[in-house]
Amino acid sequence: MSSKLSRAQAGKRIEKLRSLINDYRYHYHVLDESIMSDEAADSLKHELSELETEYPDLITLDSPTQRVAGAPLPGFKQIEHSSRMLSLNDVFNESEIVAWETRIIKLLPDTAKLEYFVDIKMDGLACALIYKDGLLSHAVTRGDGLIGEDVTSNIRTIESVPLSLRNTSEYSSFLKGYTEVRGEIVMYKDEFAALNEKRKKEGKPLFANPRNTAAGTIRQLDPSLVASRPLHFRAYDLIRENPNEVATYSVAYKVLKHLGLLVNKESKVLTTRKEIMEFAKDWELKRKDLPFNTDGLVIKVNDRAIYRRLGVVGKAPRGAIAYKYAAEQATTKVKDIFVSIGRTGAATPVAMLEAVVIAGSTVQMATLHNESEIAKKDIRIGDTVIVHKAGDIIPEVIEPLVRLRDGREKIFKMPEHCPECSTKLIKYKEADAVWRCPNQSCPSRSWKRIEHFASKEAMDIDGLGEKNVIALLAAKLINDPADLYILTAEQLLQLDRFAEVSASKLVKSIQAKKSPPLARFIYSLGIRHIGIQTAVDLANHFRDFNKLMSVTIEELSDIDGIGEVVAEAVVEWFNETRNITLINKFKSLNVWPVVVKKTGGKLSGVSFVVTGTLEAMGREEAAERIRSLGGTFQSAIGIDTDYLVVGANVGASKLTKADKLGTKKISEKEFLNLL
Ligand code: IVH
Repeated sequence: MSSKLSRAQAGKRIEKLRSLINDYRYHYHVLDESIMSDEAADSLKHELSELETEYPDLITLDSPTQRVAGAPLPGFKQIEHSSRMLSLNDVFNESEIVAWETRIIKLLPDTAKLEYFVDIKMDGLACALIYKDGLLSHAVTRGDGLIGEDVTSNIRTIESVPLSLRNTSEYSSFLKGYTEVRGEIVMYKDEFAALNEKRKKEGKPLFANPRNTAAGTIRQLDPSLVASRPLHFRAYDLIRENPNEVATYSVAYKVLKHLGLLVNKESKVLTTRKEIMEFAKDWELKRKDLPFNTDGLVIKVNDRAIYRRLGVVGKAPRGAIAYKYAAEQATTKVKDIFVSIGRTGAATPVAMLEAVVIAGSTVQMATLHNESEIAKKDIRIGDTVIVHKAGDIIPEVIEPLVRLRDGREKIFKMPEHCPECSTKLIKYKEADAVWRCPNQSCPSRSWKRIEHFASKEAMDIDGLGEKNVIALLAAKLINDPADLYILTAEQLLQLDRFAEVSASKLVKSIQAKKSPPLARFIYSLGIRHIGIQTAVDLANHFRDFNKLMSVTIEELSDIDGIGEVVAEAVVEWFNETRNITLINKFKSLNVWPVVVKKTGGKLSGVSFVVTGTLEAMGREEAAERIRSLGGTFQSAIGIDTDYLVVGANVGASKLTKADKLGTKKISEKEFLNLL
């Protein structure tokens, strides 16, 4: 957030920010609780430091920006670490990885090619296990990196910590002398949820997140309490007196596994930046499937002699970095709240925000869902709020930071009339806090309906985005989706937006979509509550649009997966005269869904997407063989894809999409059997 505050205003804001950040730190470090996400707190610290840069005379010695972190806790015996437990410098994008790589390569003029050892960065607390002649001697937390707390009795209760190292003939030398294992103590997400569930039933206060709970548990003075909480130790480093015994991190992980320790099986040796970026993108998506929380990767130079040669700057080794995924939360200010009318007429309050980068993209708007949600969360215009955004989801306001208010915040009131067409808004259903614009011809509804109709997942009409739809409506060239099919290139040329090539291209891509698959057609109509999956279910059940048109609520409710709300919405839609007029218009223009018959040739009516590399053939050959048997080869998964053939080295995004659409995934072997 950039400030345009006067010195006096900045002073007041700074005080409020410091007090809130200090409270966050106290709860986090002393009470092992969390009053907001780290990401939101980071965002506030960033704002504070920007204000302090602008007004340096307002910096005080006790400002949270002036603090150096970490000190061992009293209550436990203190133990000095054999070597300093370092932290890692963070990088946030590919170019920062390149900069790191360039820096270290410069320091290693005689090294030809570096190998990197890449692992998931676990979100827990660091701990060192010291084994003497193979027996667990003591366990020490990180503390300030030099001195940590002796938590041996507590660590001994963790099942994944071997009390003695496993003896295997190959690595028996590690059972002699000093062996130190460093790693992360984590609580798994599902076990954390179960623990909180139990506490809820017992009426006990809930824990904030797995890491704080793990940290708080390890610092309990009563080992029996620790034993009752599910904790896990996952190793990431192995230290011996003679460092040459473990030449690389990949060897370290192999030995650790043999000695009976748990290591991340996801870790990998990679050589090129491309591989690292692919690994990062992959795990950013798949991380939700890991048992523990993670916010990035650890990338280390695999060769430990080189790693040591690179040395340490400040508190971090030069030979390793933490690659952090984009934060999914940040704080910003609500500049205003306005009401947006959706294609079904729903009036949704939307927060206009001071621009902020979240999860890699700039966020300026966030949905507030409905009136009662705003009231419940008490979100006011002018509030500093925590905003959440992950992947493709619509940004959402989580909560206002009430303590940062200065008294000028305004309470939002739902307008009585539609901001687009001034029609009086109505409450859709009494119990429903959703207001709707009842005007079927409300301009906002029209363009959103047509934009939805043309969208990728619906009729997939190339070149018909939001701006073109608005321009066509404004020029009165179209009124409804059916009008698209009578558009001519000459008409389009009347608009500034089109030249000859683009005009004929758009007309062509519209005409190419006159016989859509039934599921796409159903989805494209924008019937309330009909998402892609429901459209597929309806298409598979009815196989004929005419049948769907005359269906009753009872018949619909009998279908697996179709509830009453959906059934009512479908019947209601087909009961509206204007919708029937639209359907008849489609019919008269020969725009009609096709029912793909799944009989005939071996693969006729069956569509495939191939992802990853196949061993037996290239993509082109796969496409040809599918087509020669009457099947359809598609380049991207859609609602009409039957099979996703999963080859080697597959990116997570396609798999996630297949899961979302319920597409059947098959291996290359299964695919070959089908052929
Ligand atoms: S390697 C110099 N590997 O992240 C320390 N650390 O910010 C290099 N961490 O203190 C350690 N998962 O507690 C490594 N797979 C992993 C890790 C990991 C979590 C923690 C560790 C370290 C901190 C560095």
